[in-house]
Amino acid sequence: MASVRKLLWLVLVLFVECFSFHLCIHGESQVPCYFIFGDSFVDNGNNNNLPTLAKVNYLPYGMDFPAGPTGRFYNGLTPVDIIAEHLGFDNYVPPFATASDSEILEGLNYASGSAGIRDETGRNWGVNINFNKQIENHRKITSRIAGILGNKRSADDYLSKCLYTIVVGSNDYINNYFMPMYYDTSRKYSPEQYADVLIDQYSQNLRSLYLLGARIVSLQGLLPIGCTPNATHSYKRAAAICVDSMNNAAYLFNQRLKSLAYRLNQELSDAKFIYLNVFDIPLTQTSVPGLNVEISGCCEVTKNSLCIPNKASCQDRVLSLFWDGFHPSEAINKIIAGITYKAVLPFI
Ligand SMILES: *[C@@H]1O[C@H](CO)[C@@H](O)[C@H](O)[C@H]1NC(C)=O
Repeated sequence: MASVRKLLWLVLVLFVECFSFHLCIHGESQVPCYFIFGDSFVDNGNNNNLPTLAKVNYLPYGMDFPAGPTGRFYNGLTPVDIIAEHLGFDNYVPPFATASDSEILEGLNYASGSAGIRDETGRNWGVNINFNKQIENHRKITSRIAGILGNKRSADDYLSKCLYTIVVGSNDYINNYFMPMYYDTSRKYSPEQYADVLIDQYSQNLRSLYLLGARIVSLQGLLPIGCTPNATHSYKRAAAICVDSMNNAAYLFNQRLKSLAYRLNQELSDAKFIYLNVFDIPLTQTSVPGLNVEISGCCEVTKNSLCIPNKASCQDRVLSLFWDGFHPSEAINKIIAGITYKAVLPFI
């Protein structure tokens, strides 16, 4: 009798656990594979073994993540982790750097903290895997997939059903254009010209991705980058008074990214490029009455605006807008994931 009760209890516990962590509900995922490109907003460990200051495989990063610190730039889930849950994947998409051959068919995450569209972007932090390099890494992976599936045709067919998410561009501003002591781009280009240059490069990379089989691609626009604690501090604004010059530059980029998606959809009509507007997600205290803008995000930060190792973080992590000096909180990531999932759903 006791053992039956124990068994029932165990079933109940597992049921509740499965309910709160969607990950253990086994079933078909809505796409066979998910590939991710970008920067620290979505990196999940690719920088851990690179010579760079832009790596975060230490506490308090990961303090709310089941596996602890993994190289994710948050206390908990990245937006693409949450999207993978929505899509019904049993596991989060593994980082390219450490994935095994048996994992590549379900997709990979190529993202790298501090990376940008321009190769030089983010070098002030050390080495990163820039967007161009990420596409090259994907090229190698697609030929391995062709090897596994027997031929290129089966691989193309398979890869056309995958979802691709790209989150890149912030560092071309934060760690390039708005860092004139390291980079000359702000002397060479007006904000309009710079956005054009970035979008030209972006466009070439999307064409490469298309030639590598991608047909359903979400393109995340920039957040209001002038509202991060790092930006408001650097410009000595009162907390949560955003830096207009940065937000305006991001706005110009977003407009062009949106038009690019439109143009590519006309030209490559068997593909769908989906622009995601996240610029209007409120990242100021006044716009989200429920959420607090901690002075430097939720954790105590170094002079580089990343969390100080092993320092305790704010109590109300769920109520915070920012986690560190650059990265939004999980609450914001949930909003981003929701926007993405809703936008891609009609095409998967
Ligand atoms: C903002 O971040 C940069 C690194 O990207 C750092 O050099 C700078 O000191 C930070 N500014 C403030 C005010 O924290």
